[in-house]
Amino acid sequence: MHALDVAASLTTPLLPDDYLTYLNPLWSRREPRGRVEAVMPETADAATLWLRTSPGWKPHTPGQYVRVGVDIDGVRHWRTYSLTSVPGRRDGRIAITVKAIPDGIVSSYLVRHVRRNTIVRLAPPAGEFVLPATIGEPLLFVTAGSGVTPVLGMLRALAAFGPLPDIAHVHLAPTRDDVIAGADLRRLAAKHPRYRLHEHHDDRRGLFDPVALDALVPDWRARPTWACGPAPLLDALGERFDAEGVADHLHIERFRPVVAAAGAAGAGGRVRFTASDRACDADGATPLLVVGEEAGVLMPHGCRMGICHTCVGALCGGSVRDLRTGETTTGDPDDPPMIRTCVSAAAGPVDLHL
Ligand SMILES: Cc1cc2nc3c(=O)[nH]c(=O)nc-3n(C[C@H](O)[C@H](O)[C@H](O)COP(=O)(O)OP(=O)(O)OC[C@H]3O[C@@H](n4cnc5c(N)ncnc54)[C@H](O)[C@@H]3O)c2cc1C
Ligand code: FES
Repeated sequence: MHALDVAASLTTPLLPDDYLTYLNPLWSRREPRGRVEAVMPETADAATLWLRTSPGWKPHTPGQYVRVGVDIDGVRHWRTYSLTSVPGRRDGRIAITVKAIPDGIVSSYLVRHVRRNTIVRLAPPAGEFVLPATIGEPLLFVTAGSGVTPVLGMLRALAAFGPLPDIAHVHLAPTRDDVIAGADLRRLAAKHPRYRLHEHHDDRRGLFDPVALDALVPDWRARPTWACGPAPLLDALGERFDAEGVADHLHIERFRPVVAAAGAAGAGGRVRFTASDRACDADGATPLLVVGEEAGVLMPHGCRMGICHTCVGALCGGSVRDLRTGETTTGDPDDPPMIRTCVSAAAGPVDLHL
C-alpha cells in the first residue's frame, strides 16, 4: 500500500492533503496553488505578479498560459494569464503580467488590491501558442497592449539561453508609458542586435494598419509570425496574411472569444439551472456562464472563452446558441449534450444541469 493510502486510512474523514494544506497551503497535492510573493507595477494599469508554486509544479513551455483561481468576496473566479517568467526557475516561482480592465473583477483585484502571501489556485500550464522546438528562420512578433505577455515569456526564455535570433517585433500601445515591460523590451533590443523592436504608439502615429508591415519589416511574408492583441488587430492581420497567401505563417493567441455577428443573436428565454434550483430570464447574447453567475449559481469556469472545457453543463432541455459560430444545440433529457456555458447563450427556454 502506498504511504499516502496508509495516511488516508488513518486520517479519514479528512485526507492527508487536508492536513498538509493546513500546515502549508502550497503543499496541496490535489490542487496546485501559488502564493503571491510580489506585485511589481509595470504601467499605470498593469502589474507583474510573482507566485511561488506548489512542489512538483510542471514547468511551462514559453508562450503558454496558466489558469488562476482567485477568491474575491467569498467567490472563486478563474481567469487565464500568460506566463511571463522563464520556465523551470530554481526558486519555483512563476510570473504573470496582468492589465486591469475597467470594471474587470479579477484583473483589477490582481493589479490593485491583491496582498502579498495571498494564496491562489492554479491549473497546470496549457496552450498551443508556443515556438517550435528549433528556430531556423527569422521570426515576426506582432503584439498590442497586454497581448505582449506570451511573447514576453518567449523572449525572456530565448534570451536566457543566449543571443536572441533574428526577430522583428512590432508592438502597439496607446503611448510609450503604456508599454507593458517596456524597459525590459528596450533592454533586450539594446543587448541583442538581431532582435529589432518597433514600437508603435497610437498617440503619435494613429491606429496601426498592417500595411505598415511592408515598411517596418519588408520580408514579413517570409517570417513565421506570432500575434496577440485585440480582435480588430488580429482580424486585420489575418486578412493581410490571407490576401498575401501566407495565412499558414500566422499563429494567433486571443484573450477573448470571437463572437458571431451581433445580429445573429436569438431571442433568449427562461433558463433553469436545475441542480441549483434557480431560474432567470436571459437574452440571446449573454453567455450562460454570466447569466448563471448573475443569478447566484456557482458556475464552474476557467478560460471563459471556449478553450478549457471547465464550464460544461448538461443541456437537459431547450436550445442554446454557440456565440462563436451561431450553431444551435438542442437539449435531450435522456442523453443531454454537454455544452460550454462560457460561449453559449439561450436560444429559447433552457434546462441546464448546473
Ligand atoms: C489564453 C489567454 C491568455 C491571457 N493572458 C492574459 C495576460 O497575460 N494578461 C492579461 O492581462 N490578460 C490575459 N488574458 C485575459 C484574462 O484572462 C481576463 O479575461 C482579463 O484579465 C479580464 O478579466 P476580469 O475578471 O478583469 O474581467 P471580467 O470581470 O471578466 O470582465 C469585465 C468586462 O471586461 C470585458 N473583458 C473581459 N476580458 C477582456 C479582455 N481581455 N479585454 C477587454 N475586455 C475584456 C468583459 O466583457 C466585461 O465587459 C488572457 C486570456 C486568455 C484566454
Ligand atoms: S470556461 Fe473554458 S471553455 Fe468555458
